[in-house]
Amino acid sequence: MSEAPAKVILFGEHAVVYGEPGIAIPISALKTSAFFENNIHNAFSIQSAPLGMDLNYLELADDHPLKKLIILLMNEFGITSLPEKKLRIESAIPIASGLGSGAACSVAVIRAFAEEYQKSISTQRISEIAFEIEKIYHGTPSGLDNTVISFGVPIYFIKNQPFQFIQIKKPLNLLIVDTEIESNTAEVVKDIRDHYATFSPLIHEIGDISRTAKTALEDGDIKLIGELMNKNHDLLKRLTVSSPELDYLYEIAIEQGAIGAKLTGSGRGGNIIALVEEEDQLAYLRQALQNKGAKVLN
Ligand code: MEV
Repeated sequence: MSEAPAKVILFGEHAVVYGEPGIAIPISALKTSAFFENNIHNAFSIQSAPLGMDLNYLELADDHPLKKLIILLMNEFGITSLPEKKLRIESAIPIASGLGSGAACSVAVIRAFAEEYQKSISTQRISEIAFEIEKIYHGTPSGLDNTVISFGVPIYFIKNQPFQFIQIKKPLNLLIVDTEIESNTAEVVKDIRDHYATFSPLIHEIGDISRTAKTALEDGDIKLIGELMNKNHDLLKRLTVSSPELDYLYEIAIEQGAIGAKLTGSGRGGNIIALVEEEDQLAYLRQALQNKGAKVLN
């Protein structure tokens, strides 16, 4: 079975699109898997409950990202005829919620094809192919999502540069909390781009936060990490990518003992992450959030 994890952006979303650093970690407790199974029909078909898809490959629209991915993979691996099998894609990653569901789907499918056709492919190449598909989903992506999801390690990422692996000194006791509101990354990214002149000072400030956060993560300075998350959330709010629902979850998390919290991903929906100092505080925070009707994912 070929898998790919979800991701959360700890610091730097949006700013990373403009060359500032971003920091992201994989979340292996939430993943997408893709595998081939025998098909009763003599045809290549795709079945995926999370994508709402159960069809013969020939019915897949030409501009569908999955179709584009399969064509790229046929070229990459020199595949001339697709298998008379069913490609099944399963996922526990909520869609359009800032957790990298699109990139995880691409990476899992690339791995499934490599396995089915017994081709070796480097992780870097997997990430590059997933990036091509990210462009369809996101317009002008930074490359952060496909990188962290392909490599599956915490990364410090600057667009168009090789990523740096971050050795996080102390475990991060994080909850991921879902507004259950979908958000369209391409639209939010475009909106920020359209107002870049106004927003550029905020974008540079977010970059400074990521630079400081890298050292705080390497030093295991949990208090500073929390403080930087709060500052990053405030800057994202000023960037207009928060929402009443995200701010509501943020406020509850802080009131109930989180040392830091922020929205994660493109915003205007999706998730927040909330950090507590000690692992034994997680259960309390989870319960407190759930008592307010929030959906805690991990
Ligand atoms: C989306 O997960 C993160 C953004 O920074 C867009 C990108 O990096 O491509 C909003």
